Amino acid sequence: MNISQWLHSAGKYMTERCPGAGRIDAEAIMGHVTGLDRVSLYRDGDCAITPGLEDTLRPLVERRAGGEPLAYITGKKEFMGLDFEVSPAVLIPRPETELLMEKALDILKAKMSSMDYEVGQGPVVADVGTGSGAIAVTLAVMLDRTRVYSIDASGAALEVARRNAAIHGVAGRVSFIEGNLLEPLNGMVLGGAGRLDLVAANLPYVPSPEIPLLMADVRLYEPVLALDGGLDGLDLYRRLIPQAWDLLSAGGYLLMEIGPGQAGIMQSILDGKWAVEVLQDLAGRERLVVAAKKH
Ligand SMILES: C[S@@+](CC[C@H](N)C(=O)[O-])C[C@H]1O[C@@H](n2cnc3c(N)ncnc32)[C@H](O)[C@@H]1O
Repeated sequence: MNISQWLHSAGKYMTERCPGAGRIDAEAIMGHVTGLDRVSLYRDGDCAITPGLEDTLRPLVERRAGGEPLAYITGKKEFMGLDFEVSPAVLIPRPETELLMEKALDILKAKMSSMDYEVGQGPVVADVGTGSGAIAVTLAVMLDRTRVYSIDASGAALEVARRNAAIHGVAGRVSFIEGNLLEPLNGMVLGGAGRLDLVAANLPYVPSPEIPLLMADVRLYEPVLALDGGLDGLDLYRRLIPQAWDLLSAGGYLLMEIGPGQAGIMQSILDGKWAVEVLQDLAGRERLVVAAKKH
């Protein structure tokens, strides 16, 4: 069998067994094992594959056909143009979260151009519920004077996040802390001004009663600690908001990713001390609450 034939038959096999899987997954699995990019797979499509290679590929195809997310099979996922290591200990970074990233970058760039940070200093950020470190590491890569505190309740997730910071060369500006929400930062001296400029939070926000209704690839493979947000999904945000208020500087921002239908409750939780804006994702769903701490 040659590469083209293998891609065709593996793609068809997965399509027939797993909704959403197919040819793209076959290419990704082949690329993961051989190191060949997509262009090479097309260019060298008539090259024969050895029985040994087929034996290596087969169990990976079976895993995908059985519903396991591709990112856990290849061990990586792209986010904001960067490759992140992922494992079953972390949520697979989602495209929706790029909205939070874009807003955080806009806010921090504006702060950097308007505020007088001391030489060598820059904004101080907390990423609560860091998971793979996608938000923290991307911010540190894209804004080279930013200092980030990355907190997660899962030690196993933090191990993955630490590796991602090292892979992207920002381990020196991202601190990883195991703990509950922002509690570990209480009493710490946080950067130049001693306070946070921005808190980014993509905490679990799926209402507990909806967990059994999630798509099987999410429900069966992604960590429940990364998904379950309590009865209405907003338990963690209720606890986070007063903590963020205490740690943010005046004019600081709290960014919280939410699910469709949660913006109204979030606005009622955030009292008049905050200036609140709700942003929609590309599909027109409310996805991000931006709360600015009024001066
Ligand atoms: C939805 S995932 C987000 C991961 C990552 N920030 C992203 O956007 O891809 C939520 C993360 O919050 C963490 N988490 C859950 N409860 C927490 C808590 N009480 N304190 C800190 N982190 C928590 C989970 O372990 C998980 O890694």
